[in-house]
Amino acid sequence: MAKESTPQTIYRKDYREPDYTIDSVDLTFRIDGAVTMVSSVLRIQRLSDQPTPLVLHGIGLGLQEIRLEGKKLAASEYQIDDTTLSLDNVPEAFELSTTVALQPAENTALEGLYQSGQFLLTQCEAQGFRKITWFLDRPDVMARYRVRIEADRGRFPVLLSNGNLTDSGDLDNKRHFVVWDDPFRKPSYLFALVAGDLECLTDSFTTADNRTVDLRVYAEAENVDKLDYAMDSLKRSMRWDEERFGLIYDLDVYNIVATNDFNMGAMENKGLNIFNAKYVLARPDTATDTDYMGIEGVIGHEYFHNWTGNRVTCRDWFQLTLKEGLTVFRDQEFTSDMHSRAIKRIEDVRMLRGHQFAEDAGPMAHPIRPEKYIEINNFYTLTVYEKGAEVIRMIHTLLGEDGFRRGMDLYFRRHDGHAVTCDDFVAAMADANNVNLEQFSRWYATRGTPTVSARGSYDSESQRYTLHFEQSLPFDDTVDATALHIPIRICLLDADGNATGNCKELRGDVFDLRTPTAELTFENVPAAPTPSLLRGFSAPVQLQFEYRREDLQFLAVHDDDPFNRWEAMQRLATTVILQCAAEPDREPDIRLLDAARDLAKDQASDPALLAEMLALPDLQTLVQKTEIMDVHGLHQARTRVRRAIADHCVQDFAERILVPGHFQRYQPVADQIGARALSNVCLSYKVAEGYGHDIACRQYERADNMTDRLAALRCLVMEDTDAGRQYLQDFADRFAGDALVMD
Ligand code: BES
Ligand code: ZN
Repeated sequence: MAKESTPQTIYRKDYREPDYTIDSVDLTFRIDGAVTMVSSVLRIQRLSDQPTPLVLHGIGLGLQEIRLEGKKLAASEYQIDDTTLSLDNVPEAFELSTTVALQPAENTALEGLYQSGQFLLTQCEAQGFRKITWFLDRPDVMARYRVRIEADRGRFPVLLSNGNLTDSGDLDNKRHFVVWDDPFRKPSYLFALVAGDLECLTDSFTTADNRTVDLRVYAEAENVDKLDYAMDSLKRSMRWDEERFGLIYDLDVYNIVATNDFNMGAMENKGLNIFNAKYVLARPDTATDTDYMGIEGVIGHEYFHNWTGNRVTCRDWFQLTLKEGLTVFRDQEFTSDMHSRAIKRIEDVRMLRGHQFAEDAGPMAHPIRPEKYIEINNFYTLTVYEKGAEVIRMIHTLLGEDGFRRGMDLYFRRHDGHAVTCDDFVAAMADANNVNLEQFSRWYATRGTPTVSARGSYDSESQRYTLHFEQSLPFDDTVDATALHIPIRICLLDADGNATGNCKELRGDVFDLRTPTAELTFENVPAAPTPSLLRGFSAPVQLQFEYRREDLQFLAVHDDDPFNRWEAMQRLATTVILQCAAEPDREPDIRLLDAARDLAKDQASDPALLAEMLALPDLQTLVQKTEIMDVHGLHQARTRVRRAIADHCVQDFAERILVPGHFQRYQPVADQIGARALSNVCLSYKVAEGYGHDIACRQYERADNMTDRLAALRCLVMEDTDAGRQYLQDFADRFAGDALVMD
């Protein structure tokens, strides 16, 4: 019987190098009925000076035999408990062979080797490899893997693992085998195996150094008509990483497998990514523009891990943000380069503020590099990922694109093939640019969202404008004498929306706030300006500045920083809705309605940006701004403001609604996505105002894509119409067989 064990807390400060390392692993999987036999041969070497017991990880392994240097061990020569195998006396370098029996169909943890539909697959990050075989299952043990798989050819025609295929052939009893060899050292969490009856889409990619890489995207047979976009996204990711970071793919094959049974979005196993089906499968009639962008982003993310995560990996799991924060930053940049940079920024910040700020304010608040954990699987958090990416983005802001690239180049030159720390990353960035990032690195150790309060004062006599800043943190434990280093991008705008004034303390438009309080003075400012602060959301902080409503209206229309235009519109709308909730008889402020009309008429700006700006803050965002949550009152106020805007801009909205069939062929590309987004926001206002039902019905009926069909349905349902009820039923009938759509 397993003994009850109290959860152990693991501390970052307790990190010790492993006593042993594993140079190479030879694995053989014999898949046969309900049982899969796993034989492993490990070449092990002692690292510590003194002889010391070897302790391997393993959970739920049905041990068949153990051999040391080929000699079978008696039960008295080793100890096994729930999670470890220990050998007291081992040589300095030796071969250890084990065989275990697994039952993948019984494994419902979605970790280790398990069954999905009719095929078998693995998930090893963070600590699933120990459910497959005995091993030093920690990321600073990087080994070379050779994997042989044997199975029935009829049931398991496809047999995949990491690396390149080096051998294959027939066996007796209608069985066959393959051998995969991964020439790159890797930690065990990147191991993968897939076996089953899968079909695939095949393509190829020619690298910048002129090698051909075979690309395959696998899925179950009924889904092979939904793989094209994933394949295109993969090729775009490969090209982009070459062009932007000079990073070239390193194996002869790249395989992606889609499964319905996966806890996360996707997993970057070396050369064999495994994906949740929703981030692979797409067809215009079943996937929205948002779904398409999600696929491209996740394919990119896992591909980018090949360098940031796989070639250079994490020393221990406290360093998780080293690979995840950096790779999220890279996938954000990829999407920004492929589509609208402004929209991507707005979406990411909305998510950061809506969810990560909440995490960072509550009982789960932790630094992006935590000091301790009990269960590592609970530390794949928004903080490690999204705030982690913001910290990388601040380094990018401080160093600029060229400086950041120099830092990345040095990081790979120093650490390729190794397991390293966040400090190593920051050191590469600092050394490559001859800058000191010591104060900056406090971001890795600080929890809670900082607040930056700012106020401005203008002196017409001296034509000077001064900004006063003060920074603070929400938790006592993180407050100490040194403040955080916060890059704040700033511009002063004159009445025409042009930049005004000059300030010697800025580098470009970046102000380095490094002290608890600071003052920043601009000279040659002929009239009181409107400050555009924290442009592009240049730091993950809560910015407080008392804008007047006319300032916000002005910024929404005139700021040349698209993020701050959106921000101003959101702030203005929030203020107006909260006021309407507090005073139910009050007319919505005309400044908001006029700003909306200017946007609706704006033919120069990106339609995608206009769509985001015209969408009112959702109820969740509004609720976060109030002390007492009056959900009903806020909903009513929001509806009233929506109707007032719809009324005020009737004609302008009507002109921006696209007729069904406007685009000859549906394509999830930036200009089409933006035009559809703006059209559908305008449609929702028309329906809210009471004059758009027929247009929405027609759009639902005639749409050739899910984006427009779902948008029309949503308008009709939200306004609680008969047509809405009827089309909901129609929708359920149409897509009853498609689980992803019904989700
Ligand atoms: N390495 C993770 C996936 C993972 C994490 C698997 C923890 C098992 C345990 C992968 O690179 C990842 O981060 N995936 C994200 C999507 C990404 C676009 C942020 C996910 O799965 O949500
Ligand atoms: Zn990741």
